[in-house]
Amino acid sequence: MKFLEAEFVQGFIRMANDGWEQGWHERNGGNLSYRVKPEEVESVKENFEAKEWQPIGTSVPTLAGEFFLVTGSGKYFRNVILDPAGSICMIELDKTGENYRIVWGLVNGGRPTSELPSHLMNHEVKVEKNPNYRVIYHAHTTNIIALTFVLPLKDEVFTRELWEMATECPVVFPDGVGVVPWMVPGGREIAVATSELMKQYDLAIWAHHGMFAAGEDFDLTFGLMHTAEKSAEILVKMLSMRPDKLQTITAQNFRDLAHDFKVTLPEKFLYEK
Ligand code: 13P
Ligand code: ZN
Repeated sequence: MKFLEAEFVQGFIRMANDGWEQGWHERNGGNLSYRVKPEEVESVKENFEAKEWQPIGTSVPTLAGEFFLVTGSGKYFRNVILDPAGSICMIELDKTGENYRIVWGLVNGGRPTSELPSHLMNHEVKVEKNPNYRVIYHAHTTNIIALTFVLPLKDEVFTRELWEMATECPVVFPDGVGVVPWMVPGGREIAVATSELMKQYDLAIWAHHGMFAAGEDFDLTFGLMHTAEKSAEILVKMLSMRPDKLQTITAQNFRDLAHDFKVTLPEKFLYEK
C-alpha cells in the first residue's frame, strides 16, 4: 500500500489539520505522535528507507522496537495536509529504547519534533497502564495558556474551574488535569515532569506554553483537547465580564452528576470554596 493511502496516516493528517484550523498551531507550534499498530507497520513497510540511528535524549525501554508517526521539528501544522512527506515522519525505536531512526518522510531533511522525549515518555506511561493508548498531542491552546497567567498553577484549581465551565467536562475528563510550572521545553526534564502527571491524568497543562493530551485514538485525543480548551474559553469570557460567578455548578451538583453518569470524580477536586 502507498504510505499516504493508509487509514492511520490519513487520520493523523486530518487531526493535524483540524488543530491548525482551530488556531492552535501558529508557525511550527505544537506536535503530534501516534504509536503505530504492528499490522499498520506491516501494511506500509514496503515504502521504508531507513536513515541513521539517532539518540532520543531519554530512555523508553517499554517502547523498544515500536514505530511512531510524528510531526517534524520546525515543521508547520498548516503544511501537513499540503506536503505530508515533507512535514511528518515515521520513526522506529531500537532494541534499547534509547535511539530512533527515520524510516519514512521528512523528504527535505529534518528530524522529529523537539518534544520527542515528552511524547515518548508519555506514551510509555500510558502503554504501561493501558495498551490501547496510541496518541499524544501537544497544542498551543490560546485560552488555556491565558489562564496560566491568572489562576494558581495547581491541578485542583485548573480541574475544578474547567469542570465548572461546561457540564460535559467532568464526564470527558473525570480524572482531572495536571499542571506543569514553566520549564524549558524540548528536553528530558520537562518530559519527566509531564509523564509523571500522565500517570494520573490524560491532560497536562504547560504553564505559559500549551497543553498535552493523551488518548486511544485521534478522535478521542482531539476531542479531549478541544473540550478542555473550549471550557477555558468560556472561563476567559466569564472572567472578562466580572471576576466572580453569580451562580455555578456546585460540589454537590458534581457528585450528583457523577452518580447518574457513572463516573468517579476524586474528592480532592470537590473542595468547598
Ligand atoms: P517542534 O517544531 O520541534 O515540534 O516544536 C514546537 C513546539 O511546540 C515546542 O514546544
Ligand atoms: Zn510547544
